[in-house]
Amino acid sequence: MNLIIRPRRLRRTEAIREMVKETHLHPEDFIYPLFVHEKDFQEEISAMPGTYRWDMNGLLKEVSRAWDLGIRCIVLFPKIDDSLKTEDGSECFNEAGLIPKAIRMLKKEIPEMAIMTDVALDPYSCDGHDGLVDENGKILNDETIEILKKQAITQARAGADFIGPSDMMDGRVGAIRTALDIEGFSDVGIISYTAKFASAYYGPFRTALDSAPKENNRKIIPDNKSTYQMDPANSKEALIELALDQYEGADILMVKPGLSYLDIVYRLSNFSNKPIAAYNVSGEYSMVKAAAMKNWINEKDIVLETLLSFKRAGAKLILTYHACDASKWLHEK
Ligand code: PBG
Repeated sequence: MNLIIRPRRLRRTEAIREMVKETHLHPEDFIYPLFVHEKDFQEEISAMPGTYRWDMNGLLKEVSRAWDLGIRCIVLFPKIDDSLKTEDGSECFNEAGLIPKAIRMLKKEIPEMAIMTDVALDPYSCDGHDGLVDENGKILNDETIEILKKQAITQARAGADFIGPSDMMDGRVGAIRTALDIEGFSDVGIISYTAKFASAYYGPFRTALDSAPKENNRKIIPDNKSTYQMDPANSKEALIELALDQYEGADILMVKPGLSYLDIVYRLSNFSNKPIAAYNVSGEYSMVKAAAMKNWINEKDIVLETLLSFKRAGAKLILTYHACDASKWLHEK
């Protein structure tokens, strides 16, 4: 055949393929989510094989391991005892609480590791919602923000590098930015959950933290988070959230979940010059793990291909429970 253009010429050898590769994964691209609890032992999360609720010692070891593998940022989630959960979630701004304690310990031992925190009420709320719930089951936006500000300041005071508002209340990024600045934390950044969808993919995470919205005979509560998290059907709306978060002072903009929302990642990365992050959430992790345990897929190949797809779509950063495994595999290459 008389073909002038033959794309296969650039696929001929490993060396040539490496030369023309457009996207590369690095351990510094990963933000590693970790669960902590008050106990003095570590406990595997049944729906997320290979992830644990860590005690302080275990957490330190795991974070050191991540640092040695080249990971430069972690995000912490607390599994709070039921006895500490209240309607107003006030444990979230307890200076002696689990998250501030974990941050202080890590900052003392591994000061260079960047620490991101999660700002929302759900792990602290007896209703299992990210915001305050009134007697009619309505989520109260502005009243919630007053508590989130205190939560963010408590985390910053403990040493957090990035605050991650995951609650999806309107106006929270700006309010948190101002509150941090007033308290002298102008260096503390905000990684905003900009386009966070009301997703079934968060299931295993909610089991891990026992943070799912709860039936409560005191009031009628929506059994999902669709009055504040985005409708999975919407894409243009993500651009409104993007405009708001940028205007309100977010430093990094996140899309969540990741895999079913790569179009949103692409769209935001075309629209913004800020770094985009994607959250490869618990349900995405659990599906891969389950299939891998059955030997139905090759875990390593699937994970690296998946993580690469986030970068190709436009994400600079990927929050992923696979962070340590993926970093190890990248070093082996
Ligand atoms: C809490 C929060 C959730 C996740 C991160 N922060 C759950 C939710 O919104 O219900 C999910 C993370 C995951 O599934 O891996 N606001």
